Amino acid sequence: SGAAPGSRTAGQVLVASNRGPVSYSLAEDGTLTARRGGGGLVSGLSALDEDSGTWVCAALSDADREAARLAGGGTLDRSDTGGRAVRMLDIPQATFDAAYNGVANSVLWFVHHMLYQSPVEPVFDRAFEDRWEEFQRYNAAFAEALAEEAAAGATVLVQDYHLSLVPRLLRTLRPDLRVGHFSHTPWAPVDAFRLLPDPIARQVLLGILGADRAAFLTWRWAEAFAECCRVLLGAEVTDHGHELRIGHDGSTTRIGVHGLGADGAFLRERASRPDVDERLAALREQVGDRRTIVRVDRTELSKNIVRGLLAYERLLEDHPEWLDRVVHVAFAYPSRQDLAVYRAYTEEVGRVAAAINERFGTDDWQPVVLHVKDDFARSLAAYRMADVALVNPIRDGMNLVAKEIPVLAERGCALVLSREAGAFAELGDDALEVNPYDIAGTAAALHAALLMPAGERAERSRRLAAAATALPPQSWFLAQLAALRA
Ligand code: G6P
Repeated sequence: SGAAPGSRTAGQVLVASNRGPVSYSLAEDGTLTARRGGGGLVSGLSALDEDSGTWVCAALSDADREAARLAGGGTLDRSDTGGRAVRMLDIPQATFDAAYNGVANSVLWFVHHMLYQSPVEPVFDRAFEDRWEEFQRYNAAFAEALAEEAAAGATVLVQDYHLSLVPRLLRTLRPDLRVGHFSHTPWAPVDAFRLLPDPIARQVLLGILGADRAAFLTWRWAEAFAECCRVLLGAEVTDHGHELRIGHDGSTTRIGVHGLGADGAFLRERASRPDVDERLAALREQVGDRRTIVRVDRTELSKNIVRGLLAYERLLEDHPEWLDRVVHVAFAYPSRQDLAVYRAYTEEVGRVAAAINERFGTDDWQPVVLHVKDDFARSLAAYRMADVALVNPIRDGMNLVAKEIPVLAERGCALVLSREAGAFAELGDDALEVNPYDIAGTAAALHAALLMPAGERAERSRRLAAAATALPPQSWFLAQLAALRA
């Protein structure tokens, strides 16, 4: 670090995100093993050749920090990253924890997903003020690293709520850069957003407005952001058809939308491999000739897994004709376990699933098959066998599972979809709409989904798959880049 601006010319396009494309684990003997991750951003960036992209991310664990130190503040060994330049920031652990757990995931995530409900309320005390300082430090570390890595006039794509202060900080350090910000979450309506203390709410909005262009997954979130800027900053919002413009303090930020889609080609290829076939055979063995209701999520409060299980229980109560004729395959993979509220939620999911099995199960029928160990091949196997997909988040930026299942469901699937997921804007016409809080309504939608005639189901599923793959990750990424450079 400490290099002069532009002296590292690894890329004309830089991506910044909290979670990078690679993570490390540390064996007892001290050896580091790299594991490459997936997701929309990783596939998106593959649209660029290896030499033109640089990714700046945070070290998330001790092993990551060790790898970052070994890289001496520069980019990681390219054999670990599939050839791409990745700079992993060795942010002091206390700063990282306060920023990631203490601000981004427990406060900003809660605000945008409207997860605060009495008695779970935000606490803005002195300890929070300290965490907010660390959050600023963490954002500054990203801005400084990007300023060092970027060649003159480079384009920078800053990702998500963790890094909402980066665009403005970076603009101050490097006015020559083109900076974009992309939000992968919903954006809270004004009345929810202003739960944040005024100076912090303003700083978040101004942080993002430091970008030349800020983009969102749907117009609903883009408009909510613009409305926050209008009401809380007195900014001027104008509508230019395909973009909004937000004028504030003499500068203008363009606002656009890119609805990240499923990667159909990748999914079909990956799902046809032998490890997926094996898992499919095992699941089929367990389910037999019964119908399958599938859900796959991170064990995340906003995903509303418990109410999904309760809706399934209600289905079995209200419609005993489904007893022994349906299985709910529910995969809930641990997430953000450093937060107590997530640990408690993970336990609750297990408890509720066990109670349903206890209540309705028989010697040869297990009503809920819950798996919590992350296994991508098994998720794809479940997608292939889905008759019904249950996606009922309280709020969700997009929800890619809703887009992926129809692509792979072999018999076509009926999609039960929350109207509060970003994906609803694109898939709503062919999905069964639910209010995520309405358990009886969700049970009724599951019943309707199970009863949907095979022909109609196949037809709808085909249309869902087409809508879901309209903007695959590479096109999504290139569209953002083109719009930012326009
Ligand atoms: C959401 C966020 C991402 C985040 C992901 C996984 O999709 O928008 O920024 O990376 O969840 O969460 P985690 O906290 O494990 O990175």
